[in-house]
Amino acid sequence: MDNRPIGMFDSGVGGLTVYKEVKKAFPNEQIIYVGDTKRFPYGSKTKENIINASKKCVDFLISENVKEIIIACGTATSRALDTLKATYDIPITGIIEPTVSYIKEKNYKNIGVIATRGTIESNSWKINLEKKISDVNVYNQECPLLAPMAEEGWTKNEVAKLTIKEYLKNFENKKLDALILGCTHYPLFEAIIKQYLPDVEIINTGKVIANKMEQSKEKTKENITKEDKIFITDTQCNFEAVAKKILEKDIKIEGIDLG
Ligand code: DGL
Repeated sequence: MDNRPIGMFDSGVGGLTVYKEVKKAFPNEQIIYVGDTKRFPYGSKTKENIINASKKCVDFLISENVKEIIIACGTATSRALDTLKATYDIPITGIIEPTVSYIKEKNYKNIGVIATRGTIESNSWKINLEKKISDVNVYNQECPLLAPMAEEGWTKNEVAKLTIKEYLKNFENKKLDALILGCTHYPLFEAIIKQYLPDVEIINTGKVIANKMEQSKEKTKENITKEDKIFITDTQCNFEAVAKKILEKDIKIEGIDLG
């Protein structure tokens, strides 16, 4: 059994929705998390900048001796996964591949995707879904305001309701089987999204990843003695307050300088 930690990164608090699910499934694994708050939001940055930012996070996680890396970010997955896989020897998983495999198993054909502008621009979800599933219909919708609202803790108020209503308009009459929350910040809005799409399966990619890991990975029975570590690259933000709400516990956060 490899007792080294699992590494994860995102631009901010969103990836904690993945952290939370993986931790629930693997309580005895130590996780090292980086929230790259200095460069948030990733969704409005160029591919080149996302690749550079992702490399900084991966280099740091490798220096922390992690055994594998989960990109707990839709934008970094769609913009940087291929480059990261080609650059590093360490196993790296994004949020797209496990989710596409789950949708294929379910035999869903009408899929909505909501994500950041960068992710939608990359068209990664559509490309990957069409590669694996015949006759799939993919409807993309960028939602650039949602991740900043989530970082602000605005996930249940009237602004969130109105914003989501507006973004989901385009899915009316599409008879969706499932809606992919293609940005890891979006599970924080799940309750509101569900109100507008009550008959559609809302896919939280963190849950899918944790399930897939449970199918393929042996669980360590040893109790971990090492605490998880959560790092952020800029401390002038709301990360700690929002993170506590997501994880429903007190957490210790350390600032790091990744340049
Ligand atoms: N959590 C992110 C994602 O999954 C990034 C949001 C952002 O930084 O714009 O895409």
